[in-house]
Amino acid sequence: MTQTLLHQILDYANRADPYPIYEELRRTPVHHDTDGPYVISTYYEIRSLLHDPRLSSDARNLASGGADPLAESASEESALPPSFLRLDPPEHDRLRRMTNRHFGPPHSPHRVDAMRPELHDIVGGLIDGLGDPGRIDLVEEFSYPFPVTVICRLLGIPREDEARFHTWADTLAASLDPDPDADPAERGKGTVEARMQLGMYLAGLIEERRKNPGDDMLSQLATAEGQDGPMTTMELLSTAALLLIAGHETTVNLITNGMLTLLRNPDVLQRLRAEPRLAVPIVEELLRFEPPVQLLPGRTALADIEVRGVTIPKGSTLWLVLASGNRDPQRFENPDRFDPDRPDVQHLGLGSGIHSCFGAPLARLEAQLALSELARRLEKPRLLEDPPPYRQNAVLRGPRHLRIACDGIRP
Ligand code: HEM
Repeated sequence: MTQTLLHQILDYANRADPYPIYEELRRTPVHHDTDGPYVISTYYEIRSLLHDPRLSSDARNLASGGADPLAESASEESALPPSFLRLDPPEHDRLRRMTNRHFGPPHSPHRVDAMRPELHDIVGGLIDGLGDPGRIDLVEEFSYPFPVTVICRLLGIPREDEARFHTWADTLAASLDPDPDADPAERGKGTVEARMQLGMYLAGLIEERRKNPGDDMLSQLATAEGQDGPMTTMELLSTAALLLIAGHETTVNLITNGMLTLLRNPDVLQRLRAEPRLAVPIVEELLRFEPPVQLLPGRTALADIEVRGVTIPKGSTLWLVLASGNRDPQRFENPDRFDPDRPDVQHLGLGSGIHSCFGAPLARLEAQLALSELARRLEKPRLLEDPPPYRQNAVLRGPRHLRIACDGIRP
């Protein structure tokens, strides 16, 4: 039964609406089938495990089947070492702290907020440039180019190189999906190649930034010496690759899921048009209702851990199904209702604990600006196709295209 449910989660046929499967999963909060992962689907158990130091994020601890593009083995000659997403303390904490020096408080408290006018201009430019209002592909024309442009500006990566890193980033994002039936070594080959290409590309850029530093994050990471000393070149490459991929393969889905949900809930869209500040609670509710990261498939138990009366043995692989926890009726009233007026929406959409999303303030700001401007400027927008076609990915889930039409574009 468990195996069937796991296959159902990964089955593309269920991509448009995985929520009934999660509902079934929650009937057994700790699902396990011989040789399979332990799948945790209820809110409080997921949250507590995300804060449990007996759980490792380090892919080198994974028994099998946990292929992770951001964490190929350091012994792979040509591959990058694991990024801090897939490291445990103390290395995780040191690298996250060093990166955060150039991104958030206490050293850079205004970095994200200072980008607001620039983000606003990018959003405005993309909406001005939308083609035929009778047939817009929101993913191609808006939701994808926006976060890519933003992360490139932040890191100091030339936007015109997008065609080069797009394919590598897509390969790496796709391989986040676990595949219980595949040989992990076989699956790893394509991702190692993509990581190597991305690493070589970033190495060239970093060398250039060391010689001619700008005010971008790549230059700062490459030249800074804080209390932790400088990052090694390999650490720098892994961190840059992590930020580049995490910075755009997720936000595209939040914006697209957001517009899809608003078009399915026209009363909320109407309210947002009149009251742009509503974008803040709308984005939080979206992170609960349609989270772009549906599950975290790569945790390992470092000790025997008891969850709801089940002992998860040391060495086991765990999947934490964030999107299911977000719809847990034990935690949220009417969980299947999209309701931006919820008084308390502490969702799991950005993770929790030491690995909680590093880019959260930027992701939130991007989605808030994108949705409020789309609501304001598109005249009578409507869906041309519902459900839309989805990307293959089960972990980073979102529409591949979102075809909409509107009567015109307001200035
Ligand atoms: C809507 C957009 C986003 C979503 C839904 C999202 C979601 C998440 C989640 C669920 C995690 C936890 C992973 C885990 O526990 O294993 C995470 C971690 C992370 N995210 Fe995001 N993210 C988004 C945008 C961004 C952006 C824009 C950036 C970069 C600027 C970013 C950088 C990171 C990094 C570096 C980590 C690893 C943190 C750590 O291991 O300490 N994310 N994100």
